[in-house]
Amino acid sequence: MAGKKFQSEAFFLFLFLLPYIAVFCNSLPLSTSSRWIVDQATGKRVKLACVNWVSHLQPMIAEGLDKKPLKYIAGKVSSMGFNCVRFTWATYMFTRANYSKITVSQSLDNFGLKDAKAGIARNNPQVLCLSVVDLHKAVVNELGKNNIMVVLDNHVSQPKWCCSDNDGNGFFGDVNFDPKEWLQGLSIVARTYKDNPTVVAMSMRNELRGALQSKDDWRLYMEEGATTIHRENPNVLIIVSGLNFDTNLEFLKTKPFRVNFNDKLVFEAHWYAFSIPREKWIAQSNNICAYITRNAKNNYLFLIRGNNPFPLFLSEFGIDQRGVNEADNRYISCLLATAAEYDIDWALWALQGSYILREGKANHDEVYGLLDINWDDANNSSFLEKLQLIKQINQDVVPNHPTYYLLYHPLSGQCVKFCKTVYLTNCKTASRFDQHQDGGPIKLAGPSQCLGVVGEGVGARASNDCSSKWRSVSSSKLHLAAPSGPGKFLCLEKNDADSTIVTKKCLCMGDNLQNAPSCPQNPEIQWFKLVPVNV
Ligand SMILES: *[C@@H]1O[C@H](CO)[C@@H](O)[C@H](O)[C@H]1NC(C)=O
Ligand SMILES: *[C@@H]1O[C@H](CO)[C@@H](O)[C@H](O)[C@H]1NC(C)=O
Ligand SMILES: *[C@@H]1O[C@H](CO)[C@@H](O)[C@H](O)[C@H]1NC(C)=O
Repeated sequence: MAGKKFQSEAFFLFLFLLPYIAVFCNSLPLSTSSRWIVDQATGKRVKLACVNWVSHLQPMIAEGLDKKPLKYIAGKVSSMGFNCVRFTWATYMFTRANYSKITVSQSLDNFGLKDAKAGIARNNPQVLCLSVVDLHKAVVNELGKNNIMVVLDNHVSQPKWCCSDNDGNGFFGDVNFDPKEWLQGLSIVARTYKDNPTVVAMSMRNELRGALQSKDDWRLYMEEGATTIHRENPNVLIIVSGLNFDTNLEFLKTKPFRVNFNDKLVFEAHWYAFSIPREKWIAQSNNICAYITRNAKNNYLFLIRGNNPFPLFLSEFGIDQRGVNEADNRYISCLLATAAEYDIDWALWALQGSYILREGKANHDEVYGLLDINWDDANNSSFLEKLQLIKQINQDVVPNHPTYYLLYHPLSGQCVKFCKTVYLTNCKTASRFDQHQDGGPIKLAGPSQCLGVVGEGVGARASNDCSSKWRSVSSSKLHLAAPSGPGKFLCLEKNDADSTIVTKKCLCMGDNLQNAPSCPQNPEIQWFKLVPVNV
């Protein structure tokens, strides 16, 4: 009896503790091991699958609190499958008393934001009297309650929309970017959140840029910034951003970043479609995909590989959620192929469907925002489905399985499965393939079933006939082609009408050639990537 009583008490104690255990899981300090972010205590991989949420604009108020209760928004982040938020702050919010002490209510009044004030009074009345700094803490705490990790990002010095080359917030020494004040800000924020286990990382500065940029100053200040954070809060990961709007860390190839806490260092980068004109994306999708992927590898993904690897956090990427930007649409499939292959940590731009005040406009829309302008729900749920494979851990620090491959189709976000037909399904239940040698069969791991070509416009075949030899073709290398008769090749393609895979004429081959006519088709439907998985 006594034993039984003890058991049931222990059971109730366990139930009671459950929510705390869940929080505890994410609250252990993180550290790094080679290219992985790990739980410091257990060495297990923790993958950051974050969304950006902004709080650094002029009013210094987390966006959306005028639209929905804080609790609702935090719950939404979690229910959309993110385990983390990259939450922004502006230096002056913490270093200047006339910014930090201002209340939410006063801040809204200062900008004449009557509608936003009424919205906050309706949805979050308890925050109106908080100072903007106490509100920042309240948001972090609410995310913590929802088991969401927080990466704090120093986005600007002066609260405002970011980023242009000459907005005074671009580089150390710019009119609003005093390095001393920046260090002071890092120090205050590290201290403020020192005992808060929800904050797992601090990102040093968003998108360094502008005329004053230099590698020497970068190194000087970033090493000092990292050391400052580490001194105040030795638990937190320190995320180091590069030059040129956080697109370049190539200079670390010749001279590594030097601090004595490498197991707390993570590097970050941003990857958008902006740098390439839309017409080019549309005319030469394979070639442009190849080009931007090569740049990403050369400029920052190299950090993951090599002798002295570090984790790389893709801390901003995103697309117009309305699906109207064709450059964005093609870029995201291209990016997802690489993000899945490297299994990197990431933060999507962005959560917010609106801004309280951006660039002088109240209730400014965010077309890159996941949430709609009223913050009710995802603006485009088909986009969320695309993120499914990169949300999960595909490669573990300590493999609990030999490496096999998923055949990923980034346009749909799904993976190939063999059954009676060959079709696309959720990557969690998709088929697992052996490593593929270029020009060899694509074979299931285990049973000797291979992928075969039957004919043009016909479903691909799964059978024990392993005679189809597959090559990665086009400059993007994202097409898988196999011979179908003499001198003829066909590519895998998602069938338009359903989820089956057919073989068709390869689209937009040679769009990288000089004077090649622009390709009128969209080859994205034929893009596949073999993604390594060992879990
Ligand atoms: C704080 O004071 C400075 C200097 O007087 C001023 O320029 C700035 O607008 C003030 N900030 C706020 C938020 O009131
Ligand atoms: C959602 O986005 C996809 C592209 O990612 C686009 O094709 C579709 O039209 C969008 N849907 C809506 C309702 O905007
Ligand atoms: C998505 O956002 C666009 C404007 O950004 C809007 O026109 C559209 O109605 C939204 N769709 C949903 C489902 O909220």
